[in-house]
Amino acid sequence: MMRILIIGGGGREHALAWKIATSRSVERVFVAPGNAGTATEPKVENLSVSPSDIDALIDAVKKNRVDLTIVGPEAPLVAGIVDRFMQAGLPCFGPQQGPAQLEGSKRFTKAFLDRHQIPTARWQSFSDANLARAYARSHPLPMVIKADGLAAGKGVVIAQNYDQAFAAIQEILVDQRFGNAGQTLVIEEFIAGEEVSFICVAAGTAVLPLATSQDHKAREAGDQGPNTGGMGAYSPAPRVDSGLHKQIMQEVIHPTLQGLVEEGMPYLGFLYAGLMIDTHGQPKVLEYNCRFGDPETQPILMRLQSDLVELCLAALEGRLESYAIKWDSRFALGVVMVAEGYPGEYRRGDEIYGLAEVDSDEVKVFHAGTLQEGGRILTDGGRVLCVTALGETLAQAQASAYRAVDRIKWQGAGWRPDIGWRAVDRLKDN
Ligand code: AMP
Ligand code: GLY
Repeated sequence: MMRILIIGGGGREHALAWKIATSRSVERVFVAPGNAGTATEPKVENLSVSPSDIDALIDAVKKNRVDLTIVGPEAPLVAGIVDRFMQAGLPCFGPQQGPAQLEGSKRFTKAFLDRHQIPTARWQSFSDANLARAYARSHPLPMVIKADGLAAGKGVVIAQNYDQAFAAIQEILVDQRFGNAGQTLVIEEFIAGEEVSFICVAAGTAVLPLATSQDHKAREAGDQGPNTGGMGAYSPAPRVDSGLHKQIMQEVIHPTLQGLVEEGMPYLGFLYAGLMIDTHGQPKVLEYNCRFGDPETQPILMRLQSDLVELCLAALEGRLESYAIKWDSRFALGVVMVAEGYPGEYRRGDEIYGLAEVDSDEVKVFHAGTLQEGGRILTDGGRVLCVTALGETLAQAQASAYRAVDRIKWQGAGWRPDIGWRAVDRLKDN
């Protein structure tokens, strides 16, 4: 029987812990630090250790006799947690610091994509504000300006006019709003199209794509308003038909993994390609994430019928190619409920009501920013819950998720009313 540690405390980590706890070969799941959702899950226990304190995590693994650690968020991966665990002889599922640069540095990724002829938006990087302004001045609109390093989803500006472009350059390079993450920025061409998430499990050049998914990053209905970590997601994504799937594997995923091996930094772990399918149907890489998506994990894992620990072990032990993943054929859709103010300054500490009645075989409320205090569950983050439902059709999954959302209440709760709209429209027309 295995003991597993999950690092992180968001909706993705609740879904990972929930799924892994169902594995027959798992006796105990620890989550560091977890949230109110993981605290109440059978077989699951929270450890109050910060994901950034690698020494304390190593101690916790030894003390709790953990057999395998799975890293949820990007920051510890980019900081080299897997390398540290390897040095200590502890199995850890995730990429080492070298390949984690795919998420840790936009400039690294853009140069890597160009070196391996992987399609992406045309770009230039700058560390000097005057040079950046001069380049921006002659760049067609809109243009996209990105802080080089990790900025929790806030480091990207789509500038519709030159004033916005100059303001973004000022904020990143001069005011240093993102600290070290903003010593450098990338200015790139805006690509119109439809965004999809393409998530795989990879080990060297071996790769298993997970079920397809799409998320909604904009805060407001109709994909308007500021960018967020993700306001909802669904799986499968009808936009990714078998032709496009094959093209993404051939033009993006295989060359990326091959390129990393050639450059001496083979990838192990979840690999998430954020792609724009442009108006000609060509997939282009917008970004890489070196981890599972949040909230994509929630609907994807609702549909996973295989044992997730077995899948991670197959990757770690070089058996990925002979592994077949089984999926529930139904659709899953998750609606993220957020605190008032998110993605800006938001309220916290509000009591959440109505959680007890909604979980069923088809509906699962994954917690993100929640905290247990006595018998009460309080909001404790911008993204608070991801209410996820299965359905025979995407429209049914959507209706069922929103019925559950309507029963959950707290002061200032917000959500988008239209998660899945594009795919529901597309399926209606077919
Ligand atoms: P990133 O963190 O690089 O994925 O950027 C955050 C979001 O900005 C993406 O999910 C897209 O919605 C949008 N975005 C980024 N780059 C581009 C681009 N070149 N063209 C259009 N939209 C983009
Ligand atoms: N859903 C977007 C992300 O995980 O980065």
